Amino acid sequence: MTQTTTTRTRHEEASAEPWWRQAVVYQIYPRSFADATGDGIGDLQGVLERIDHLDALGVDAVWLSPFYPSALADGGYDVADYRDVDPRIGTLEEFDRMVAALHERGIRVVVDIVPNHSSDLHPWFQAALEAGRGSPERARYIFREGTGPDGAEPPTDWVAMFGGSAWERVADGQWYLHSFAVEQPDLAWDHPEVRADFLETLRFWSDRGVDGFRIDVAHMLTKDLTEPLPSQAELAAMPVDGMHPLLDRDDVHEVYAEWRALFDSYDPPRTAVAEAWVHPSRIHRYASPTSLGQSFNFDLLEAPFEAAAFRRIIADNLALAHESGSSSTWVLSNHDVVRHATRYGLAATEGASVRERGIAWIREGGPEAELDRARGERRARAATVFILGLPGSTYLYQGEELGLHEAATIPAEARQDPTFFRSGGAELGRDGCRVPLPWEADAPAFGFGGEPHLPQPAWFGEHAADAQAADGSSTLALYRQALALRAALLAPEGLEWVETGRDDVLRFARPNGWEVVTAFGDAAVPLGADELERVVLATGGIVDGAMPGESTVWLAPAG
Ligand code: GLC
Repeated sequence: MTQTTTTRTRHEEASAEPWWRQAVVYQIYPRSFADATGDGIGDLQGVLERIDHLDALGVDAVWLSPFYPSALADGGYDVADYRDVDPRIGTLEEFDRMVAALHERGIRVVVDIVPNHSSDLHPWFQAALEAGRGSPERARYIFREGTGPDGAEPPTDWVAMFGGSAWERVADGQWYLHSFAVEQPDLAWDHPEVRADFLETLRFWSDRGVDGFRIDVAHMLTKDLTEPLPSQAELAAMPVDGMHPLLDRDDVHEVYAEWRALFDSYDPPRTAVAEAWVHPSRIHRYASPTSLGQSFNFDLLEAPFEAAAFRRIIADNLALAHESGSSSTWVLSNHDVVRHATRYGLAATEGASVRERGIAWIREGGPEAELDRARGERRARAATVFILGLPGSTYLYQGEELGLHEAATIPAEARQDPTFFRSGGAELGRDGCRVPLPWEADAPAFGFGGEPHLPQPAWFGEHAADAQAADGSSTLALYRQALALRAALLAPEGLEWVETGRDDVLRFARPNGWEVVTAFGDAAVPLGADELERVVLATGGIVDGAMPGESTVWLAPAG
């Protein structure tokens, strides 16, 4: 089915810039969003049935994490067929219906592409196992002989991202490379069939009306595996300057130049955003208009809720976006990190970023005494409304609009993340931000559907969407109000800092006079009479003519 996209996002009505430059994109983790079939796994029909939630929230686009056939060795990032829907999640016809319904509401659709590795159940990998050493089938992956007596030792001592060796031995004695889980063999990106097949996948979804793509670990596809292979220590000592054997190689952009030509052959051009964990000085390569066009900036995932840290990150990333010709991206939560309400509710520990602090807290079993839930949510509301005022696009993660905290106390037998298994349980992994959403306070499984595939803690009910929709002071109400106002206020992509004379407060103005003020500390910030008249949004309300500590206000343009 071919479908041209005529969707116009809310702010695009009022401006000529491409839709993605300042879009609000909502990430759906499909297996945990809404379960219409009652099997405990979220599905596409569930997205359709909750479409009013997305519409009322006011997002410009949704990004769906993988919904493809998968054995779920890595939450769907182990793809067995790139051009189909997991039967537990739906069908291609349901996908088409979902896209059409979202487009009808003015909501664009971004899908996740996982090119570094397939699932070990992918027909290509199964054929590679079958065909044996030296076969053309094995050439699509990275097979090597082992070392030591009988080749019983892996080719190198490389360590996989989820822990353990990055090599796995197959029945005939050869080894294959998997940068992530054992079930995720790396594809050989110097193989023409691999390149051609991904172009076909991108065409397949573009023809079905998909508006854009999120590219998984975009910096890892191409590799220089010339023998002798370096050791892990040698790899770690090498500069990542475009010629590193495994990471952020310059030649990966030859792949993306081909993708770009394909994206631009559509009207409107399809968009892409890179998940590229690279040095900031190299991000522009992924974000440039000749490559993927936009790249995630993950700096805020590591940063404490502090004015100086936020200001530095924002200034740096606006400069980087300018350098690439792209717009900046702002992310506080996603399916790989501890939710930001929780990160901001934990007291800092020496020498650890807030992201690492969150991971350590989960490892300790999520002690309730260490988490100040109210403070975390208060700061999360302030931080989110702050970034929604910035130039560029904001990526929201499902459940953050409900003020959800991380679910830290998942029993070992329910855990799914490969990090948990590969570390022998030493790391608990990312399941705590992937627990199915609470929709209805008084329904079984809080209205998610069947028995959730990851258990919901009892306190999830306090965050249920139905209760929050009826409460004007809820976090859901705040997100709705913020997104509606943002669409109305949206300005060209400039920003000017307004000096406040206080190191716990940030204030900036957009070119149309819209201003954003955030109090990062505990102390209240008094506002003048003219400012009070301009307040259109206040995450902590206004108390005695002042904004309370740990809150954000938006001021409408003066006059
Ligand atoms: C990306 C995904 C993560 C996944 C990994 C391997 O980092 O965001 O969830 O585990 O790639 O595909």
